[in-house]
Amino acid sequence: MAILITGGAGYIGSHTVTYFQQQEKEVVVVDNLQTGHRKSVEADHFYPLDIRDQEALDQVFKNHKIQSVIHFAASSLVGESMEKPYEYYHNNVYGMLCLLEVMKNNGVKNLVFSSTAAVYGEPENIPIQETDKTDPTNTYGETKLAMEKMMKWFDQAYGITYVSLRYFNAAGAHEKGHIGEAHDPETHLIPLVLQVPRKKRQQLFIFGDDYPTMDGTCVRDYIHVMDLASAHYLAQQYLVAGNRSDVFNLGNGNGYSVKEVVAAARNITGHNIPAEIKERRPGDPATLIASSEKATKILGWSPRYPTLEKIIEDAWRWHCREE
Ligand code: UFG
Repeated sequence: MAILITGGAGYIGSHTVTYFQQQEKEVVVVDNLQTGHRKSVEADHFYPLDIRDQEALDQVFKNHKIQSVIHFAASSLVGESMEKPYEYYHNNVYGMLCLLEVMKNNGVKNLVFSSTAAVYGEPENIPIQETDKTDPTNTYGETKLAMEKMMKWFDQAYGITYVSLRYFNAAGAHEKGHIGEAHDPETHLIPLVLQVPRKKRQQLFIFGDDYPTMDGTCVRDYIHVMDLASAHYLAQQYLVAGNRSDVFNLGNGNGYSVKEVVAAARNITGHNIPAEIKERRPGDPATLIASSEKATKILGWSPRYPTLEKIIEDAWRWHCREE
């Protein structure tokens, strides 16, 4: 039986495709290539379609015997989501509705979902636990929370069980350096930092140094993309074993400040990476750190690449290859 990976040409999706293939799974990829890259996927079966095209999606389920769906296909930029709520609700929420309906019609009973720490909004506690309040501060997080809730009711009505994985700051790249993070426009810290030694930008802007953190810059929990990939595999196995729907945070439980990220990147690249302090970016919480104890306990997940150095080293290998 095959695993259907929607959004499998995107950043986290393409690394997860590779991981499932390493586990000898047959993978079917669907991606509309709005932000994904065809060259990032070496799956046997690739469909360049939009999940909102229910007829086309249904045909994929008819062409293959699908055991589980891993759902990445969604828009994921916080800033953009504030400017384009229609597009975010349409792609994310309506996209999920179409997917669930097609799964239901084809009797596919489990779903691993790519969620985000943005569902929490401004945190109540650090580290953040799954039981903490969800109160998104942006459209992106709100759409992901709505998608989580849709799965809950589809589970209740039709027995489609799900695992929702709330990622903290995904970063790094496959060790081989053949796939990595390639957004356009790029908004994430680590790839932006690494663009400076690659001469794609002259300097980094640090958004605020007056936060209540040890050096005044924002603290985030960076998690290696291949550790996210392995969590999707464990979640899929968990569902296939007949376990109940659940929600898990995925992070390392360690926070690094923007300045610490820049310092680590300077060490790894040997480049001085000029950085200038700018205004705060609206909507940035000071500190976001995950408690992933639940994923460790229930899914048996533990990150293999927890250090910031390893994350940046792997990202750097990819940046050096990419033109
Ligand atoms: N930052 C800079 N300069 C830059 C880019 C980022 O100083 O040029 C700072 C940001 O202000 C933030 C930190 O670096 O403090 C990390 O920023 P990212 O944009 O890399 O990541 P975020 O923490 O803002 O967002 C991530 C995911 C989102 C998710 C969110 C959950 O990318 O998808 O975590 O809170 F919604």
